[in-house]
Amino acid sequence: MDRCNRLVDVGRRQFLRGGAFAAAGVATAVALPAQAQTKAAPGLALVEYPSNKLANIADLKPNEPFDVGYPDENAPGVLLKLGMKVEGGAGPDGDIVGFSTICPHKGFPLNYNAEDRTLNCPGHYSRFDCEAGGQQIWGQATQNLPQYLLRVDDKGDVFAEGLDELIYGRLSNVL
Ligand code: FES
Repeated sequence: MDRCNRLVDVGRRQFLRGGAFAAAGVATAVALPAQAQTKAAPGLALVEYPSNKLANIADLKPNEPFDVGYPDENAPGVLLKLGMKVEGGAGPDGDIVGFSTICPHKGFPLNYNAEDRTLNCPGHYSRFDCEAGGQQIWGQATQNLPQYLLRVDDKGDVFAEGLDELIYGRLSNVL
């Protein structure tokens, strides 16, 4: 019993010593000058997208992919003239869309299937519907395909001015 009491006593002393160290740490943190304290960097919530001319309507053939890069040349993508008004479609017929062609799952390059108007991944077979805003219709990816925000001017020039999802492998779409 006596041994047990001694152990309890030792435990209590160690606990109190630990508390004293913790109190000293708090006091030091409070005593630091304001400049020495680390401030969290403000989040970059707003991304400034470039307005890039990607093509002219005359360059686009119905249901044939036209290779582009946006927002920079290291971000491959495609323009499609689908021949019917679709979600996110631009131009006089509302049928021009653009997508990143990097799979959002693990970054494989996507291939266009003109028969069902989908972009398909050879990596793990995810499929994305180009008539439905790049919605994933099958596979491993956990997000839809990034779609371009497009504008067509009165000369028929097609500009990309934004993206609605994060491009695979980037912390920000604009580097
Ligand atoms: Fe496309 Fe995995 S990389 S499904």
